[in-house]
Amino acid sequence: MNIAIIGTGYVGLVSGACFAEMGVNVTCVDVDKQKIDNLANGVVPIYEPNLTDMVIKNHSAGRLHFSTDLKSCLSDVEVLFCAVGTPPDEDGAADLRYVLDVARTVGQNIDKYILFVTKSTVPVGTARKVKAVIAEELSRRGVDVEFDVASNPEFLKEGAAIKDFMSPDRIVVGTESQRARQIMDKLYKPFTLNHYRMIYTDIPSAEMIKYASNAMLATRISFMNEIANLCDLVGADVNMVRQGIGSDSRIGNKFLYPGCGYGGSCFPKDVKALIRTASDNGYVMSILQAVENVNNRQKSILFDKLCLVFDGDIKDKTIAVWGLAFKPETDDMREATSLVVIDKLLAAGCSVKVYDPIAMDECRRRIGNSVMYADNMYDAAEGADAILLITEWKEFRMPSWSRVRQIMKTPVIIDGRNIYDKNEMSENGFVYKHI
Ligand SMILES: NC(=O)c1ccc[n+]([C@@H]2O[C@H](COP(=O)([O-])OP(=O)(O)OC[C@H]3O[C@@H](n4cnc5c(N)ncnc54)[C@H](O)[C@@H]3O)[C@@H](O)[C@H]2O)c1
Repeated sequence: MNIAIIGTGYVGLVSGACFAEMGVNVTCVDVDKQKIDNLANGVVPIYEPNLTDMVIKNHSAGRLHFSTDLKSCLSDVEVLFCAVGTPPDEDGAADLRYVLDVARTVGQNIDKYILFVTKSTVPVGTARKVKAVIAEELSRRGVDVEFDVASNPEFLKEGAAIKDFMSPDRIVVGTESQRARQIMDKLYKPFTLNHYRMIYTDIPSAEMIKYASNAMLATRISFMNEIANLCDLVGADVNMVRQGIGSDSRIGNKFLYPGCGYGGSCFPKDVKALIRTASDNGYVMSILQAVENVNNRQKSILFDKLCLVFDGDIKDKTIAVWGLAFKPETDDMREATSLVVIDKLLAAGCSVKVYDPIAMDECRRRIGNSVMYADNMYDAAEGADAILLITEWKEFRMPSWSRVRQIMKTPVIIDGRNIYDKNEMSENGFVYKHI
């Protein structure tokens, strides 16, 4: 089968590589020429475990192609996946400009059947708009070409994207067309051989499932952050509380980790977009507004704890930041807590030394030389008044505390992900604060 994937970012590139791995003939299209040229030369612009090998292998095998020219690949493809970005506009609504651009190009150029599948996260009603735009362009041309639309939201997690795509918990497809359903069944069959996980719904429900999933996950995080903050005030340990509540099978133990706030390209934007969809329909999403407020406050918690340790006197202190990416195993810093913390530290007159195993270039691209870039975690800790642990990369989990203690100016560790043991920290002579 020949397919095209439009938008070669985290979702588009991973989807393209995984479909090609299963034998599908895939063309990944993007408007970013530099990105497409690099990919054709085996240079993958993002960090995602195993992605580079899979891209190079399938490109060499002739199953994965890269192009900037959507028009000319349309004549060869039966299915088009739209995986372009849907960033929030100034009111928090998902900006559908890029999705509708793709729909317009499709309507202006197809001359045989195509199934237009939206993989980008888009609000309820988008498929209807896509269908209308394609139909309008076809009627402008005075041609009658059959096409279908489907919604196929993507649930991959950055850092485990290939694993998630190759072995999904479920594949959700919203469509009204039997033909579209047959095509999607065929395309996804290799991924569901062991266990059939296709869920077919109407289109609005498929669009809503993606937002409701992310909103639920964000809610669990903010809920646990509130419980953790209260634990702090009343002398309870949220790690024990987490185990206690997570062993209730109705609650389950996943996604109950308190921390210094969620970031990334999805939760913040999708929570905002859902709040906005509700308000457009005259409804107030009270829970999600609270989820967002709690998260915004939580992103400052490490800074607040640091100020408490030093009685507010942090001007001219040197602070080491361990971890910049919004989560481990990615270089993605969109909405990362590290950016909020660094901003606050710089505004308070601190010098900041940062280290991340993968996201250093991304950090340089975003904030340039406003911070110092260390070669490794110990280099960052050298001469520091405090270390703030923001991203729980594996290499941060078992440092040589005696070495860290020796090279720091003052032994203060503020752990934003609760990965260290408070007894061990005090035995090693650290002032240790966690969530
Ligand atoms: N990143 C994730 O973990 C994740 C997970 C699930 C769903 N999603 C959703 O998938 C969508 C894409 O997310 P992403 O993280 O891959 O975004 P991204 O920013 O990494 O990639 C989007 C790509 O689309 C390209 N693009 C924009 N307009 C285009 C056009 N008209 N034609 C061709 N290419 C175009 C951009 O150049 C960019 O390379 C979003 O709606 C997002 O919410 C993301």
